[in-house]
Amino acid sequence: MADVRKVWIKTYGCQMNVYDSERMAAALAAEGYVAADAPEGADLVLLNTCHIREKAAEKVYSDLGRLRPLKAANPDMKVGVVGCVAQAEGAEILARAPMVDLVVGPQAYHRIPALLRAGVRAVDTEMPPEDKFDHLPQSRGRTAPAVFLTVQEGCDKFCSFCVVPYTRGAEVSRPPARILEEARALVGRGAREITLLGQNVNAYHGDGWTLARLIRELAAIPGLARIRYTTSHPNDMTDDLIAAHGEVPQLMPYLHLPVQSGSDRILKAMNRRHTADAYLRIVGRLRAARPDILLSSDFIVGFPGETEADFDATLDLIRAVGFGSAFSFRYSARPGTPAAGREAVPDAVADDRLQRLQALVTAQQRAAQAAMVGRVTEVLYEKPGRLPGQMGGKSPHLMAVHVDDPAGRPGELVPVRITAAAPHSLAAERLPAG
Ligand code: SAH
Ligand code: SF4
Ligand code: F3S
Repeated sequence: MADVRKVWIKTYGCQMNVYDSERMAAALAAEGYVAADAPEGADLVLLNTCHIREKAAEKVYSDLGRLRPLKAANPDMKVGVVGCVAQAEGAEILARAPMVDLVVGPQAYHRIPALLRAGVRAVDTEMPPEDKFDHLPQSRGRTAPAVFLTVQEGCDKFCSFCVVPYTRGAEVSRPPARILEEARALVGRGAREITLLGQNVNAYHGDGWTLARLIRELAAIPGLARIRYTTSHPNDMTDDLIAAHGEVPQLMPYLHLPVQSGSDRILKAMNRRHTADAYLRIVGRLRAARPDILLSSDFIVGFPGETEADFDATLDLIRAVGFGSAFSFRYSARPGTPAAGREAVPDAVADDRLQRLQALVTAQQRAAQAAMVGRVTEVLYEKPGRLPGQMGGKSPHLMAVHVDDPAGRPGELVPVRITAAAPHSLAAERLPAG
């Protein structure tokens, strides 16, 4: 028997990276690696990276700098850069960071064990035709109460600002039979909530199934109490998916549906292929199907060519929708994307707009939280809360809730009454069952 080796994986970026990191950890466990919670003493370090904005990509190099003393102290430690920066920069990473041994793109993770066994510096940014998930073992043991399950990878939308179609490749849907099998196994290991993931998850079309059909089949799994999905594109909000929000009780009343901008001129320049009004109509239909649904969005502020009038149109859209929360980013020019060469909005102007947008969204978020006070709802306990005797979890609307419940256990789905709203969480009291 070889000695036990330790792997430390750091995950940047989106939920799909979180899911991928788990699958890589399981593949490495099969090779005799146990997970370490710090890089010190690890035999292998993997940085699962994100390329979406410049800051995210640059972080990789500062983290590598921080790992340098560890590598100097232990030259046998292997360092891998995987994920979207690996895909985008490939061999450049080996040139720029001599301490890196492996560079592996998102579609080649199943080949990491063989690359490690070969023991040479290597780059694998191919997008092989096979599905990596068919060749990556599943984790074992208990899962968390709320888990992710990637059902779709890649994107064919080519929004003019976005690297994802290049870093993740073309849109591919996993077969529904595999997903259902994996979901049943996750529920068997303790999962009560599954979030279906994809860069464009509602474009799912595995074996001709729609996402709505997949959700309906998943809802029949005994013990699976909650289903969510993210991230969706407005143009793929089909009638059957909207109907599912009204008909499938397990489908939670919260939807992340990024609109990016409220200006038709900017939406066109972004290649989003829908108008602000089309987005508002979808929101109206979702609310007709499921009146208590909460929406969230992503916004890009300071996209090339954005005028004050365009920005006002975005604020108008935000006022018209009333979001439960939203993520907003200053536009970041990304290499290889069509918008990268366009004239930028001055930093100071973009920063000022970002602050104004965030102030509006924060006010809406506070209002949505405050509106929950007094309501009876359910919380899925995920872990002990911050204070002794507390449990923490999420409401159906994806709000963090803490409950004084010394006997509470992770994985319990409990009825509660919301008693107070703080800026980032709700307090609740547990109610008797039934
Ligand atoms: N597939 C999702 C988004 C994936 S990226 C969708 O289509 O909505 C997550 C978010 O990052 C995007 O919604 C966008 O708001 C932001 N983003 C992507 N590229 C960006 C860029 N170049 N600059 C700033 N923000 C960006
Ligand atoms: Fe990027 Fe999303 Fe647009 Fe695809 S749909 S290109 S992932 S922003
Ligand atoms: Fe980032 Fe890649 Fe996800 S660029 S947001 S990790 S798909």
